[in-house]
Amino acid sequence: MLILGIETSCDETSVAIVRNGREIVSNVIFSQDKLHRPFGGVVPEIACRAHLESIIGIIDRAITEAEIKCTDIDAIAVVNSPGLIGSLLIGVTAAKTLSMAFNIPLIAVHHLHAHIYANNLEHDTIPYPAVSLVVSGGHTTLFLSERETQHVVLGETIDDAAGEAFDKVAKILGLGYPGGPVIDQLAKQGNRKTIPFPRAYLEKDSLDFSFSGLKTAVLYYVKGQDRNRTQSTLKNITDIADISASFQEAVIDVLVHKTVAALKMHHARSILIGGGVAANSRLREKFQEISHEIRLPVYCPSRELCTDNAAMVAGLAYWKYSEGDISDLHMEANPS
Ligand code: KG4
Ligand code: ZN
Repeated sequence: MLILGIETSCDETSVAIVRNGREIVSNVIFSQDKLHRPFGGVVPEIACRAHLESIIGIIDRAITEAEIKCTDIDAIAVVNSPGLIGSLLIGVTAAKTLSMAFNIPLIAVHHLHAHIYANNLEHDTIPYPAVSLVVSGGHTTLFLSERETQHVVLGETIDDAAGEAFDKVAKILGLGYPGGPVIDQLAKQGNRKTIPFPRAYLEKDSLDFSFSGLKTAVLYYVKGQDRNRTQSTLKNITDIADISASFQEAVIDVLVHKTVAALKMHHARSILIGGGVAANSRLREKFQEISHEIRLPVYCPSRELCTDNAAMVAGLAYWKYSEGDISDLHMEANPS
């Protein structure tokens, strides 16, 4: 079964063709990073316009690269939630149009569930139940996953998402957008023990997250309590590398601690990580160490499948289709 998946929930326009929920036949990703960089973050109106301008060309490319005909496609999948409403609407409208034009089923996919599914694209024997951690620009959420399509929220961020914290700290340090990959690289040259930034564990047994205090701690460290100091007071690149490494370690400590706590609380048999921040080198290293400690598998998608892509969408849709979870043209985009 060939499914064409569409992802436009934030600032990547992506279309993929996946066979039987596993084999990626094509996965075209157009990142809008360059368009948003001058603004230091995603500008919803620019994102929406860019999706609109590129979506048809990207659908075309995904089909061409897959070396198939439109009539070979058995179903259309699309992320309809959560995300930026204008961005979601472009993907949803394109998907409905294709579904109607070719008279094939339409499948609505939850963006965070798709991030978790990125692991299933590369591994076919994941032991369930699993605890799944999605760490992206917009979300930091822990799920109890019973199977590919069944996920119950255990905890989430009460303020900033992990990726958002990386992006905002990068902005404070003058490192540009998106901040995650730059901090990841710089942190390799820094000492993660230099600055004891705060770790917010919240109340006992809480599986929620909070990163805004950490972001503010970095702001005060860099600019002083009155926030008036200029960045030039950072003596050199070593300072920035140390701050990056210390900040990154604080984020990862909390993510690892809460994920392992959730695993123990729910007697899960594996951990699945997904979302853009799952591409982080130190996070991947730390979770591998944990995997040895707890003697359970921890799965993390290869880097290109961590950030937004449509292969994870088309892949998950296969299982939803098998379970009869099909939408119709009344399906709506839902930002939350
Ligand atoms: O999943 P994603 O592509 O989009 C959303 O659904 O939000 O995640 C994007 C986020 C951005 O905040 C970006 O800075 C972060 O993922 N990110 C990273 C790394 N690569 C991307 N954060 C830390 N380390 C990385 N290597
Ligand atoms: Zn995402």
